Amino acid sequence: MAKDTVTIIDNSTGKELELPLRRSTLGPAAVDITSLYREFGYLTYDPGFMSTASCRSSITYIDGQEGILLYRGYPIEQLAEQSSYMEVVYLLLYGNLPNTQQLNDFTGSIATHTMINESLRSFYQGFHYDAHPMASLMGVVSSLSSFYPDAADIYDPEQREIAAHRLVAKIPTIAAASYKYSIGEPFVYPKNSLGYCANLLHMMFSVPAEEYVVDPIAAKALDLIFMLHLDHEQNVSTSTVRLSGSTGTNPFACIATGISALWGPAHGGANEAVLKMLEEIGDVKNIAKYIEKAKDKNDPFRLMGFGHRVYKNYDPRAKIIRKMCYEVLDKLGDPNDPMFELARKLEEVALNDEYFVSRKLYPNVDFYSGIIYRALGIPANMFTVMFAVARAPGWVAQWLEMIAEPDQRIGRPRQVYEGATTREYVPLDKR
Ligand code: SDX
Repeated sequence: MAKDTVTIIDNSTGKELELPLRRSTLGPAAVDITSLYREFGYLTYDPGFMSTASCRSSITYIDGQEGILLYRGYPIEQLAEQSSYMEVVYLLLYGNLPNTQQLNDFTGSIATHTMINESLRSFYQGFHYDAHPMASLMGVVSSLSSFYPDAADIYDPEQREIAAHRLVAKIPTIAAASYKYSIGEPFVYPKNSLGYCANLLHMMFSVPAEEYVVDPIAAKALDLIFMLHLDHEQNVSTSTVRLSGSTGTNPFACIATGISALWGPAHGGANEAVLKMLEEIGDVKNIAKYIEKAKDKNDPFRLMGFGHRVYKNYDPRAKIIRKMCYEVLDKLGDPNDPMFELARKLEEVALNDEYFVSRKLYPNVDFYSGIIYRALGIPANMFTVMFAVARAPGWVAQWLEMIAEPDQRIGRPRQVYEGATTREYVPLDKR
């Protein structure tokens, strides 16, 4: 029987090293290279982590060739059709779908932690009045570590669980406050009789002067879009959470690093960038020009919301969101929304263009999400904040899994040094 190993040979010395394979339940096996440096004195070079599995995980599985996404083994399509955001948050945090009692206890616990310390109101004043809400979200989430210092005891499972619940519960309140601050409106307290997403809409859109009733269609749409954003294995922000968490820092600080990594336009910031791009394109008659720009290596313009490191097929989340657009626009917005028409046409042109076809570039999760957020009345600078709120429980689940990992060590990549070799210091007056 073939051995479950890979042998590498150093051609300069003829030395052979047999490396074990780590088998996955789904997807490719990984060559375990942990002994490579010790045995051979070599490092591996993999910028952008094209071929690197940074950890073991049982949370999310992606088959990028087939366009498959599973949360704890459940296909995203089944969850989107039959489940709810809170149920799937529970699934990610605890490993299995909850029964009714477990779900009630969990949502009850989340509801009791939705408020934030009153002193945080003045913390917001430190941000410029037109600060991007991602900036204040990041700062305020990080500041939670000062209110809950016990969370620093990450080896106490009870502390970990309560910190997890606090993060899930408070991030919508903080996000809504970031939005209210950016538009100069008073902060709205959470209303725990509302569901998770309805509560977020209430905190974002109600004002003390008027009665506000959350539209159940809007709350349901947000619930689904949040579920689609919940987790996505070792993407940049999740890897950032794990890397900072590997030092033993507290969970609030870890999640703040995830928010900062998410902000970039190549990652979660793409949803805001898509809308800006559609506004810039403006009309279907300009599509050809922008497709050419996206293909031109001398032009920095790229088709935002297109392409993915792992998916070389249609992102299954984008498929669901695209379908949602029809339903949401039909019920809440303009069924003939010119932005949606422009996006669909742009997609059609790109998917028939040799450049995009040969590189397997398809719409990703961010391509259509902004169209839905817009129909819900959410402004573009809040799109990435919405992504962060939806993703936070995924980050928390990954952080919890990392702490429980027996092999867990501080993450410390090496480098291929290409700088000067040792040289003598020359005093200033001799240079
Ligand atoms: C998210 O990883 C995750 O899981 C992330 C995410 C999550 O749930 O957490 O799914 C969320 O971040 C989605 C991605 C959002 N970003 C964008 O939509 C920004 C636009 N996309 C690209 O910048 C890009 O496709 C990335 C960053 C998403 C992926 O980058 P890769 O894997 O490094 O791919 P690449 O840059 O090497 O691209 C391969 C080729 C290149 O051309 P060649 O050099 O081979 O000729 O495809 C080209 C690229 O120039 N290309 C594009 C393109 N994306 C890739 N060309 C034009 N427009 C694009 N959008």
